[in-house]
Amino acid sequence: MCGIVGYAGGRPCRDILFQGLRKLEYRGYDSAGLSVISDDRLELLHSVGNLDNLEAILDQVGDKGTLGIAHTRWATHGRPSAENAHPHTDCTGRFAIVLNGIVENYLSLRATLQDEGHSFTSETDAEVVAHLIERAYQGSLRQAVVETYRQMEGHFAFCAIAADEPDVIVGMRKETPLVVGLGQGENFVASAVPAFLAETRAVVFPDDGDVVVVGRETVEIFDLDGKRVERLIQTVDWDDEAAEKAGYETFMLKEIHEQPAALADTLAERIAPDGRVALDGLGLSAEDIRRLERVIIVACGTSYHAGLIGEYALERWARVPVEVEVASEFRYRDPVIGPDCLCIAISQSGETADTLAAMRLARRAGAQVLALTNIVGSQATREADGVLFTRAGLEIGVAATKTFLTQVLAVLLFALWMGDRRGLLDGERVRSFTEELRRVPALLSDYLEGGAEGQIEEAAARYAAGRFFMVLGRDVGLPVALEGALKLKEISYVPTEACPAGEMKHGPIALLEEGSPVVVVATDGGVHDKLVSNVQEVRARGARIIAVTSEGNERLAEMADEVFQVPRTDEMLAPLVAVVPLQLFAYYVAKARGEKVDQPRNLAKTVTVE
Ligand code: AGP
Repeated sequence: MCGIVGYAGGRPCRDILFQGLRKLEYRGYDSAGLSVISDDRLELLHSVGNLDNLEAILDQVGDKGTLGIAHTRWATHGRPSAENAHPHTDCTGRFAIVLNGIVENYLSLRATLQDEGHSFTSETDAEVVAHLIERAYQGSLRQAVVETYRQMEGHFAFCAIAADEPDVIVGMRKETPLVVGLGQGENFVASAVPAFLAETRAVVFPDDGDVVVVGRETVEIFDLDGKRVERLIQTVDWDDEAAEKAGYETFMLKEIHEQPAALADTLAERIAPDGRVALDGLGLSAEDIRRLERVIIVACGTSYHAGLIGEYALERWARVPVEVEVASEFRYRDPVIGPDCLCIAISQSGETADTLAAMRLARRAGAQVLALTNIVGSQATREADGVLFTRAGLEIGVAATKTFLTQVLAVLLFALWMGDRRGLLDGERVRSFTEELRRVPALLSDYLEGGAEGQIEEAAARYAAGRFFMVLGRDVGLPVALEGALKLKEISYVPTEACPAGEMKHGPIALLEEGSPVVVVATDGGVHDKLVSNVQEVRARGARIIAVTSEGNERLAEMADEVFQVPRTDEMLAPLVAVVPLQLFAYYVAKARGEKVDQPRNLAKTVTVE
């Protein structure tokens, strides 16, 4: 979590740093700060709360300095406060650092430093870094940073500046993102590309252990032994406008509406002229596919729900046993894995700490690892044997929407590809699915541009004051129900229970009272009749039914209080359309309750700590 941005150039940087933080605010927003070098001394500013509070006092820092670092925080060690906000400084006030991640051995480092006479002003793990640099400094910030890095355990990325070296920022990373932006006569360093996307699209992704020295004219990268290393310069194809709201009131709403395009982009070039699925970069040979005995999918949150849909599809189409595991649990079990397993790690960011740890565990045990991610150059892509990219573009809203839909599409494509390669789906069958998949972006676009959203907004207003929601689904509708419930929890804060519709009478039905709103994912499919029976059971307890059904299915209309009809498609592809009214419903419930949809409380977009 947390966002870092640094600038070295010829322009006054206070406002540039602040604009960079604005783009990273999705990573954390409980406090913020910046430090600028001006007249060979460090100017510092800290604030509590989101960036509006920092903006209000920004002019307390002069606008002369042309090199500086800034940070927006998501608290791990130490409550949100001005003292705990970054940048942190050493005892002399000559060094400042910003850090994202966790320094696991900070308590012992802090104790040693305190014994040596260093005094600390915050409760954070990060402050030790400033003091370690102070202790190690002998005229070279680069050397002091390397010395400091060698003593740190955990996973982190940090940047340091020194009043005595006003022309450089030195940054390092370990299992946590750090990216460099290359400009003309100016350079940037940040946790993520959006921080400097308005200024440059030329980027370098340093490796773990690289020492990045960002100057005004040059960026140099060294290894830990001081040897120069070259890293590829890449061009990112996002534009800055993609990081803006493009007329929508929130990023989340914009991203919901971007879903047809995100699906079309993810699908592009992945359907061959003969209608079969074409995927490359997976790192799987024909022999690997033949001897594969098991698939283990690891993920967190929304990505886990995409993994559950993958389970249905892979078992149905490729006849391979699949387990879907919450990464934070999987990593601490003693799972049975071997070379006959394929581990698919799903993570839109490619930086989720638990998912990365689960990948590493699977890899050590001999499994092949495939990363399914949205972010080029992310940690997951570096550690996997192969990568399947979604192409959702940048997602800023903390509540995942378009990345989920593209993950679902990617797992469906992968399952079709696998079923075909394993000889379990004939060409005709694959073709019928891929033809249907090709139709989905347009179906969804028509749906979103039609009157559905207004109907959902009105319905949401009727239920927004409720104390509780239940969401039910069966078969591939179950992961959709889980995802719809997660959206409600994340942004509306209304307690919501999701459960398999058939499981309800084993306990959760006891929660229902007269008038309790029950959302049912009831698109057409093999278990539809069973689901209708479950709806009747719920209705008999006086619950109000909000049903998501396939267009033209009037059966549930008679028993439901609200019906959100979605475009009709194959039952296995239905999650691609069925989740959208649930995203919108959660959105408008949250809005009616006056919540801050893009920045839900206690959450951050990327969970780089366990
Ligand atoms: C989604 O709305 C959530 N913000 C969260 O559950 C998220 O899906 C989870 O943290 C996993 O993130 P990842 O896909 O980047 O690994």
